[in-house]
Amino acid sequence: MHAKANSMTANAKLQAWVQDTAAMCRPEQVVWCDGSPAEYQAMLRHMILAGTAIRLDPNKRPNSIFVRSDPADVARVEEFTFICSRSSDDAGPTNNWRDPDETRNLLTGLFAGSMQGRTMYVIPYSMGPIGSPIAKIGVEITDSPYVVASMHIMARVGTRVLEALGRDGEFTRGLHSVGAPLVGNVPDTPWPCNSASKYICHFPEPREIWSFGSGYGGNALLGKKCHALRIASVQAREEGWLAEHMLILGLTNPEGRKIFIGAAFPSACGKTNLAMMNPTLPGWKVEVVGDDIAWMKFGADGRLYAINPEAGFFGVAPGTSMKSNPNAMLTARENSIFTNCAITPDGDVWWEEMTDTPPAELTDWLRRPWTPGNGRKAAHPNARFTAPARQCPVISPDWENPAGVPISAMLVGGRRASVVPLVNEALSWQHGTFLGSIMSSETTAAAAGAVGALRLDPFAMLPFCGYHMGDYFAHWLEIGRAADPAKLPKIFQVNWFRKGKDGKFLWPGYGDNSRVLKWVFERVTGLSQAIDTPIGRLPAPGALDVSGLSIGDEALADLLRVDVDGWLAELPLMKKHYARFGSKLPRGLEEELKSLEQRLQSAAVGARR
Ligand code: OXD
Ligand code: MN
Repeated sequence: MHAKANSMTANAKLQAWVQDTAAMCRPEQVVWCDGSPAEYQAMLRHMILAGTAIRLDPNKRPNSIFVRSDPADVARVEEFTFICSRSSDDAGPTNNWRDPDETRNLLTGLFAGSMQGRTMYVIPYSMGPIGSPIAKIGVEITDSPYVVASMHIMARVGTRVLEALGRDGEFTRGLHSVGAPLVGNVPDTPWPCNSASKYICHFPEPREIWSFGSGYGGNALLGKKCHALRIASVQAREEGWLAEHMLILGLTNPEGRKIFIGAAFPSACGKTNLAMMNPTLPGWKVEVVGDDIAWMKFGADGRLYAINPEAGFFGVAPGTSMKSNPNAMLTARENSIFTNCAITPDGDVWWEEMTDTPPAELTDWLRRPWTPGNGRKAAHPNARFTAPARQCPVISPDWENPAGVPISAMLVGGRRASVVPLVNEALSWQHGTFLGSIMSSETTAAAAGAVGALRLDPFAMLPFCGYHMGDYFAHWLEIGRAADPAKLPKIFQVNWFRKGKDGKFLWPGYGDNSRVLKWVFERVTGLSQAIDTPIGRLPAPGALDVSGLSIGDEALADLLRVDVDGWLAELPLMKKHYARFGSKLPRGLEEELKSLEQRLQSAAVGARR
């Protein structure tokens, strides 16, 4: 093994870890990533030569590549994702737990020699603007040039991070291998991965991540889900802040007043679309701070301030178009990586719904010829674009503000065909925490497994909370107790996906979601009316601005209907969900559930009278 001498860091812990890792993984060489444009280009060239990537036509997508993964490596693998806390009780019932010592032994066996014939890259990265008091540093060691290039887009990487780390700085360790050593004369495959073993393991106490066998998305870009959510959520609890699966947007009204909103929706439920929407309401403006993750800390003024720890968007491609999300399309117009889309004969990418009429011929994500009407999807449903956030036409001027942006409202919501209304304001922080804790959604292709099944996904954190979900709920309540209630964000439950009797969506969604944001804005600024209902506060008649929208009165009434019977029917589901947390379920949430039941029962009795 040839380890390039490293004069880039004086951090002894980092030096030692890199040396130990190289000794274990036995790569051909070790490269410390400097984060330079030249390094990015070297990764693209490497992938093109290896057959991993195709350069897209520079006249159509300048400086962009197209990558196809192995068909067995297309999404996050929740069933192989583990929390290896010392006590299984700290992982809780919603996580897969593994014993840390045993797992370390197992992984050490798997990682031994796993990088033979490959380069081991050391990527220092900052989640959040370098030097921000809310940002954190991590180092990912990987044998995948795809990961290096993607991390260049998704985080701040390289020499300037090492400078910020200094001699004694703390960092999260992320070790990643595709688990496909190159030994003998066996040629490499375009997408090396390990089909027999995949392990995405988190050790919360020493803040370590070990990811083996997958090269895709959240399994491999360790800054994102592994660090910024699973490890950071543990750290946030210890230190009194929040690490959430939330977009962050700035909303400005026609008079020029701006507020910031966070919103938690499960994967592939429209966070990216909402975060950068073009409002249909005249005079309103949305600007994006982040589309997936928010780290929030109390500022000196007692308000919660959020940063986006990421620097890019790893967005779901299918369904994204100039109609549904022009700002995402424009963000990914250059300097981007496209994975598992289809490719056109003239060297551009395509995916379902990108254009009304598909191209006459394509090569699909599985390298097969594809023509419209052949009954197959051209792109994998979890195909992604990876694009720099700074290229977004509606990027917020504050997106890299090291102090973060003050959050006035938080939305929580899922994909629900029934029961949950378009918008519902929580009665208090505790009630909002309750609404987040019982969030449910129909599953999507962002994770391997069944699509469309209803699952309870509290705060969209089910796959991402690095500790016991009961403790997580308690932490939310604690944040509420620590704050001046007047300065806490208001919490709203939303659902863009309610369907009518005909099975069609009742709400147009996309830019028309600005109508809901307007009501939220006006609730925060005290300008709009709400009515109290058994489930929370809903827009008073006429308070939701539907001017210029062709929506029938019946559909609107359906969207804002409190389906008392539907809610009553879901109580057993909520109780079963809560029972999983045993004694760790905070009393405050138990009380909320009881009060909800009482309010619903009185409403049901009232309706029958
Ligand atoms: C994502 C996800 O990639 O949630 O953001 O799966
Ligand atoms: Mn996500």
